Amino acid sequence: MKKRMRIAFIGGGEMAEAMIKGMLRGEEVPPESIIVSDIDARRLHYLQREYGIRGAEKNSTAVDEGEVVVLAVKPQDMGRVMEEIKGNVEEDKLFISIAAGMDLFSLCQGLEHNIVVRAIPNLPAQVGRGITVWTGTPSVSDDRRERARYIFTLLGEEIFVPEEGFIDMATAVSASGPAFILLILESLIEAAVYVGLPWETGQRLVTETVIGTVYLMQESGFHPAALRNKITSPGGTTAEGLLRLEEGGLRALLVKAISASFNKAKDRK
Ligand SMILES: NC(=O)c1ccc[n+]([C@@H]2O[C@H](COP(=O)([O-])OP(=O)(O)OC[C@H]3O[C@@H](n4cnc5c(N)ncnc54)[C@H](OP(=O)(O)O)[C@@H]3O)[C@@H](O)[C@H]2O)c1
Repeated sequence: MKKRMRIAFIGGGEMAEAMIKGMLRGEEVPPESIIVSDIDARRLHYLQREYGIRGAEKNSTAVDEGEVVVLAVKPQDMGRVMEEIKGNVEEDKLFISIAAGMDLFSLCQGLEHNIVVRAIPNLPAQVGRGITVWTGTPSVSDDRRERARYIFTLLGEEIFVPEEGFIDMATAVSASGPAFILLILESLIEAAVYVGLPWETGQRLVTETVIGTVYLMQESGFHPAALRNKITSPGGTTAEGLLRLEEGGLRALLVKAISASFNKAKDRK
């Protein structure tokens, strides 16, 4: 049965579109129950046309209509948006902010409202394979918490974390993560071409290898190092390649990338 929860998005950019696409995929949410406001009228028309959802020219209209309001503008635009919204919000309205690096304290202060969930989704949400890490203020009732959880399950997996500090860490791993993985995929395909494979073959080999490896790790439950050992025969081709990756500092480089991304999210406040 289709749920009739009215969901509003303030800001209809990349992530809002990914979430909308993800929500509409399962056909549990009817398009007319989604309303979006965006500063850019062309963007709004595109979203209405593409997904059959409703558009609002004013943020306040979307806030009034949504039982759940997703704040999906860039962190630097949040101040202006919250200034516009505050003071005119129904007491029991649930806000979900997806702005990277903006903490619950600033959100509650800016909105002058305490029922706020802070979430970090990621781009694979648009194909139902996202993962959202989230937390909320103590004022979020069990019923509101379940509404938030329901929305996130439409996008893929979800993890509730009791400590807000985990959100900035997750931002570096799962929200920025797809960009890191895509750079690695791109490089592996280039490497396949470098050794002589046609581009299409390289792309297929890399994609299926990555998908297969992830499935293997998930289904076997083994530590990645244990599985890696099964592929690495003494003096073999894999050992030769692994040596080059270790020499180039792949491990340390990834730790540095995630750590830099985490520090950036943390320093935003
Ligand atoms: N992209 C990701 O993978 C990802 C993952 C997790 C969380 N997030 C978070 O999601 C949020 C949105 O990111 P995004 O990548 O979707 O950004 P985006 O594509 O720039 O989307 C934001 C949208 O909001 C519009 N906007 C700006 N000011 C507005 C205002 N005052 N009222 C209404 N709409 C306004 C923007 O219009 P203009 O373009 O005309 O300014 C744009 O269409 C960010 O806070 C980000 O931290 C993103």
